[in-house]
Order: sequence, then C-alpha cells, then structure tokens
Amino acid sequence: SNDAVSAVINVDIEGPQISKHVYGHFAEHLGRCIYGGFYVGEDSDIPNVRGIRLDVVEALRALDIPNLRWPGGCFADEYHWMDGIGPKEDRAVMINTHWGGVEEDNSFGTHEFMDLCELLETEPYIAGNVGSGTVREMSEWIEYLTREGDSPMVRLRKANGREAPWKVKFWGLGNEPWGCGGNMNAEQYALEARKFATYCRDYGDNKLYRIAAGAADADYQWTQKLMEQLGHLGCQRVERKLYQAVSLHYYTIGGTWDKKGDAKEFSTDEYYTTMLKALHTDELLTGHSNVMDLYDPTKEIGIVMDEWGTWWDVEPGTNPGFLYQQNTMRDALVASLHFDIFHKHADRLVMANIAQTVNVLQAMILTDPDSGALVLTPTYHVFQMNKGHQDAASLRVDAPAGLPTREVDGKELPTVSVSASRKDGRLLVSLSNLDAEAGQDVEVDLRGGGLGEFEALILTADSLQAHNTPEALEAVAPRAHEGVKLEGSKLRVHLPAHSFVTVSGALA
Ligand code: AHR
Repeated sequence: SNDAVSAVINVDIEGPQISKHVYGHFAEHLGRCIYGGFYVGEDSDIPNVRGIRLDVVEALRALDIPNLRWPGGCFADEYHWMDGIGPKEDRAVMINTHWGGVEEDNSFGTHEFMDLCELLETEPYIAGNVGSGTVREMSEWIEYLTREGDSPMVRLRKANGREAPWKVKFWGLGNEPWGCGGNMNAEQYALEARKFATYCRDYGDNKLYRIAAGAADADYQWTQKLMEQLGHLGCQRVERKLYQAVSLHYYTIGGTWDKKGDAKEFSTDEYYTTMLKALHTDELLTGHSNVMDLYDPTKEIGIVMDEWGTWWDVEPGTNPGFLYQQNTMRDALVASLHFDIFHKHADRLVMANIAQTVNVLQAMILTDPDSGALVLTPTYHVFQMNKGHQDAASLRVDAPAGLPTREVDGKELPTVSVSASRKDGRLLVSLSNLDAEAGQDVEVDLRGGGLGEFEALILTADSLQAHNTPEALEAVAPRAHEGVKLEGSKLRVHLPAHSFVTVSGALA
C-alpha cells in the first residue's frame, strides 16, 4: 500500500444540491439499445409488457433512474415522430443512416417510449429534430404529448389510444448540430435554437425545460454563441429565457477516434491515459461554466451533459455501426470519477446522461443476442452504489496535505478521488483508488458530524480487465467491505488497488 493520506469532509456545511438528474440515462435507436435491448416485441419469449423487457425495467428501477433521453443522438435529427404513431402495421419504414444503415420500422415510437418511462417511473427527456425536421413538426409533437382539452393533435393522440396528456419537462432542441445534426456553425445554430424554442409551448401546467444543443469537448466559442443569443430576446413580451440549459458532449476515448482501443484488452499505460482523459471532464465543466458566468453569473442556465462515457472499438465480430462494447472495472472507475466531478459542479450541472443505457457504448446492461441473457456491467454497480447522492446536498472534500498523484502523459493524475453528500440525515462518501497496482489508506476526518451505524461496499476485481458475462454474472459486483473503521470522527478506509468504495450511514 501507498502511505496513508487524509481528507476532510465538512459534514455540517451543505453545498449545492446534487441534481438527481446527473444520474440520467440515454437510449438511442442505435444497434441493440432499443430493439433487442429495451424492446423485444410482444411476441418474444423473453418476459415483457407490451414488448418492453421486464428484467431490464426491473434492473433500471433498482437504480432509481431519474430520466431517459430519447430517441437520439444523431438519430434524433432524422426522426419524424409522426412515423412512429398509430397502428404498427401502417407505420413508415426508414433507413437508420447513422447506425448500420438498417431498416427502422418505427414500431417503437412516442407511445412506446412514454410507456417505458411510466414503467421505469422515470422522467422523459425528448430530443426534437432540428437538423431535418420543421418547427411545425416539433411544435405539434409537444402539443400531441402535453396538451389537454381539444385540439388537432389532442384528437390525434386520443384516436391513438391515449386520453390524458403526458408530462414532459426536458426537451432537447436537436443534437450535435455542429456535426450529424445539420453541420451548422455556432451562430447559425443559435438562431435556429431561438426559433425552434419559440414554438416549444408550455401547455397548462406542463412547463418545458428547453435544452439547446451544446458544444463538444472544449468548444467554448459554441457555448459563448448560445449564451449571447439567449441575452438578446428582441421581444419585450418574452419574459422567460428561450432555453433553460445548454448541453455538452464529451466521450472518454483511450486512443484516437480512428483507433479507440479495445474494451477488454489494454495495458496499464492505456488505463492511466483513459483515466486522465476522464478527468478532463472537470476542466471542461469549469471552462464552459466560466463562459456562461459572463452572461449568467447567477447560474440560472444549466449545463446538461447529455452524452458522456467511454467509447471503445466495437467487440470483434459485431456490426461496427452498432457500437456494442464490453465494460470492465476500468469503465467502472471512469464512471465513479465522473460522478465525483459531477458532484463538484453541482452549482451549474443540472443533468448528465451516460451513453448509453443498454447494449451501446458504456452500458449498464448487456443482453445476449442469442440466449437473451441479461448482464449487469461494472458501470451499473457504480450507479447503484452511488444512488444515495441523488438530490443530496453536496459536501466539500478537502485534502490539506494533497492527494497522491501520478505523472501520466506529462500531466498529474490524482489517484484518489473522493466525494460526499448528505440527505435525510444520512451521509454517503464515495472513494475511488485509481492506482492500478497499489492499495491506499485514506483517513477521512468527518468534521462537524459524527457517524452512527454504517455500511461499506466495495467494487473491485483481480484485474482492471475483469468484466461480467452470461457465464460469470458477478465477476465484478459489489460486496461488503471490511476495510473501513470508524474511530471517533475519523473514518479509516482501506482502498485496494483499482477499487471503488462507498460508506453510508446515519449521521449521529
Ligand atoms: O452516442 C452515440 C453518438 O455519439 C450519438 O448519436 C451522437 O450524438 C454522438 O456523436
């Protein structure tokens, strides 16, 4: 083990609330995420309700998933919602040009998605089509979903079997308009966002939270343009801001876009490079938030990081357009590090959506295409162990003598990461040891609050490459951790190499 290090948690000083929505999810019509993942169809042998896989629903409900983004991604900007309503046999068939060039029969559409959200007890986040859609199309979709009373779209919804309007709060104004969403420049898109947002109406007490499609990575100029346009409302009668948040996309890629690296076979050096790239999220959130501060110092406008996670080369033998990858202990640590960063940025970050929930990129759930077996990934377990942070008050974590670091690619990578929160009289501390080979003892001073009975859980494995399969469902799964001792107000935590630990308990 490395020498012990200390950290201080100010238990009695509550910081900004960690929005539960940073534990959000994303499901695109891509590969086997919707079809063969969430949705197997009513005739499937796999237990389902109206075609939606029940074990998937059950596993995600156990995470208390707060929201689900749909239908894309790139797919959102070529999706025409009217193709996905009405009798299934009459629905239009299209080509999913972005993802494998496969036929999309639209059998999973608006009603099926809202049904899924109801089963999951989660909030829908719908990304509308700006790239190839019309203002009218988007406006009518909102009317169809959320309007009460009588109107053309309400009549259509009722004719399709849904009387009551749904509640939809989160609404995306396109996706990646700088790329697959229309190849626009920042100024051009900002004007489009204003126009589309104008016609995204609030009906009754359904108040939309409009999310303008934001930057990739460190494109601060994009964020600046969106913020600039938000300020010039032009019309005095418009009291509200046209959009309430801007999004941000950043993927953790160990290698380059051309050669991203293997999901399961990687060297220790490649592992450290990956962790350094994951840490970059901290810098990005600071950078974009700083730009926003110039226009919005009171942080009314949120950041929605609606795509994040690891992106590896696809599993050998699978369709390159389906983005199917395995998920190891390395991915779990990428997730736990992201959550520490998200908690730190609770004052500006209102939502984050991992890409993507089932069978695509850094998934929570993998399903076997032949046997249908369901596998929970190491990343799933991080979401589960951390779910107590949802809507909790963030607590500042200090390390007066510093935390251990390691030089990676000419930069300093802190190898211990800690975050903490309190909610309903309970404390939750999350600790990651990113060191690939050495254990680490951490002495946590709980200043301003004592802890009573506590539970400690650990997620680790013999190797960073460890992962779960239908034959080894629990190769990486949480178990009770004996290596945590409470001495007065000091929590002594032993973190084995490459491990993630949570300690939770009632505050005394
Ligand atoms: O998540 C996969 C793709 O990554 C999304 O469709 C797109 O928005 C991003 O480029």
